[in-house]
Amino acid sequence: MRLILVGPPGAGKGTQAVHLAAHYGIPHISTGDIFRHNMKNETELGMLAKSYVDRGELVPDTVTNEMVKDRLSDSDAKKGFLLDGFPRNVAQAELLRKILEKANTPLDAVLELALDDAEIIARLSGRRTCRNCGATFHMIYEKPATEGICDTCKSDLYQRPDDSEEVVKRRLEVYAEQTKPIVSFYQAEGILLTIPAVGDITEITQRAIAALTAAVSR
Ligand code: AP5
Ligand code: MG
Ligand code: ZN
Repeated sequence: MRLILVGPPGAGKGTQAVHLAAHYGIPHISTGDIFRHNMKNETELGMLAKSYVDRGELVPDTVTNEMVKDRLSDSDAKKGFLLDGFPRNVAQAELLRKILEKANTPLDAVLELALDDAEIIARLSGRRTCRNCGATFHMIYEKPATEGICDTCKSDLYQRPDDSEEVVKRRLEVYAEQTKPIVSFYQAEGILLTIPAVGDITEITQRAIAALTAAVSR
């Protein structure tokens, strides 16, 4: 399965990606997670990315594309992959098409998670993220067993700086202006699936798997 998850900030891409990647036995590749990992370790890439991520702007394509190209060449991505947060503009979608065409490994589907702005804001304002492993929780909707502590690795949870109200506003604008056009791009290719991202987390996973099963067997 070669799959892309697309949707506005806070739609639940990361949350669903964990379940879908486990279901299909494929690696979950999140460009946001890779940037945050590099920011935490203060690598050169992390320092560069930070100035964009903290403002809700896209990291320049030259940097992002190179990083994704590298990641897709790892051996675990040969059996398939789930991309979360990439591509994020038409230029990135075109680069990905070239890479996959060259390897003769076309995408199976692009799954769009649709959610309205009010729910997005509720999800992002209560999100807490693990400083160590990047796992996400929600103060109301997906509470960790112990407040402020990651269930998986027992490290501290923090609030992403880009989840502040002002930066979320900018991320929504960037999504509408730069990312939303890739939805039409994949619709034109006939591989777009859109599902409502409302309801329980497990219910949405089931909805996604049902849509993917129907589409891939067509
Ligand atoms: P990235 O990390 O990808 O952020 P994003 O796209 O804005 O998406 P989020 O991670 O905020 O949301 P999500 O959809 O994963 O939601 P989640 O599952 O956590 O990117 C960050 C930045 O990196 C970008 O702004 C940019 O600067 C840079 N970047 C990344 N990729 C790039 C690229 N390709 N090119 C250039 N720059 C790039 O869920 C949110 C909350 O809701 C959680 O608390 C969760 O517990 C809760 N929740 C989830 N599902 C439900 C549900 N069904 N019901 C109730 N609560 C739920
Ligand atoms: Mg995410
Ligand atoms: Zn953790």
